[in-house]
Amino acid sequence: MTMKMILATSVASFCMAGAALAEPQAEVLHWWTSGGEARAVAVLQEEFASRGGSWTDMPVAGGGGDAAMTALRARVLAGNAPTAVQLKGPAIQEWYEEGVLADISAVAQEQGWADILPASIAGHMQCEGTWCAAPVNVHRVDWVWANKAILDEHGIAMPTTWDEFNAAAEKLQAAGITPLAHGGQAWQDATVFETVVLGVGGPEFFRSALIDLDMDALQSDTMKAVFDQMRTMRGYVDANFSGRDWNLATAMVMNGEAAFQIMGDWAKGEFLAAGKVPGEDFLCASTPGDGYLYNVDSFAMFDVEGEDAVAGQNLLAELIVGQNFQKVFNLNKGSIPVRSDVALDEFDSCAVLSANDMAATSEAGSLLPSYAHGMALRGAQAGAITDVVTAHFNSDMSSEDAVAMLADAVANSM
Ligand code: GAL
Repeated sequence: MTMKMILATSVASFCMAGAALAEPQAEVLHWWTSGGEARAVAVLQEEFASRGGSWTDMPVAGGGGDAAMTALRARVLAGNAPTAVQLKGPAIQEWYEEGVLADISAVAQEQGWADILPASIAGHMQCEGTWCAAPVNVHRVDWVWANKAILDEHGIAMPTTWDEFNAAAEKLQAAGITPLAHGGQAWQDATVFETVVLGVGGPEFFRSALIDLDMDALQSDTMKAVFDQMRTMRGYVDANFSGRDWNLATAMVMNGEAAFQIMGDWAKGEFLAAGKVPGEDFLCASTPGDGYLYNVDSFAMFDVEGEDAVAGQNLLAELIVGQNFQKVFNLNKGSIPVRSDVALDEFDSCAVLSANDMAATSEAGSLLPSYAHGMALRGAQAGAITDVVTAHFNSDMSSEDAVAMLADAVANSM
């Protein structure tokens, strides 16, 4: 018998459950590599370490997580899934259906997740009655960020309609300023597109078109108007937009190289990480129109062998939903806590606006899942839409052709 075996035997005889002495371990796959994101994920690493956990980091750079999801598929196919994975929306259920997710119901029950999470969020975390993911935050997608000094200098207020947005952009462009900081990556095009769908069409139209995939909505004149607005906005980006990362677009607003960015509030994490102050250095407002597009980050645990790994998964799940983590992480990330019992006193005015709007839109029935961030649709359908949005944005395709292509692409993806 080796020393390790002797120890293991004696431990087993003293403990009802060997897991009590397991050393929590986790290999964590995520795509939080920008300045603000890295600060936020460090909060989880620190909490995990302070509870005796050892964390193996597997960051896969690439905003929106496309590259991370490709890396995940390769690992799972190789029979070597990471312990914990940043995963969200219907992708959680898609992986569950492949039979590769661990059940974290024991932690969820012990912590009473059913009582502390809003029902709409809890639904995303469940797979056939079990808990299969732990929610981290609520990001809002439909935001406009602006450089305050530029707007002040040109006598421009934050736009409340798309016409006002266009008028402001044209005034700025005439003054030699890039109106819209944008990164030409498919998920960023999709992010802008869905805010335009919400703003131009309204919440009910958004639901018909991008959640219910209603063919009439997809081919409607309203959708043509959405593509018209996308074409207009294509004229507001600088010549070097192709392939630019989202955080570099945020930096353009920060540094006064561009006036606006349309991006979820992870952009606020970048402003804050750079020491910028909301209301002084930068402004936030919801994109024109009603409604709220939510994007809830979460972690799913993959079915892996070993007590240490299982202990790591359970500890992560427990920490993620814990009150302290929910506060400190979200202060850094730009999002708001998923739990309504976390005080917002230390949060900034953009976060308070987000929380208030989330409550109001939940009442009004206009709290909607983001399609661009994988909350509304399965991968195949979301991908089909994004391909069209990107093809349109990067060509001179007419709005008529775009809606025809959109309807075809969606129909073929079903
Ligand atoms: C989103 C994700 C955010 C942020 C962003 C940019 O999809 O939910 O947490 O990371 O991508 O990478």
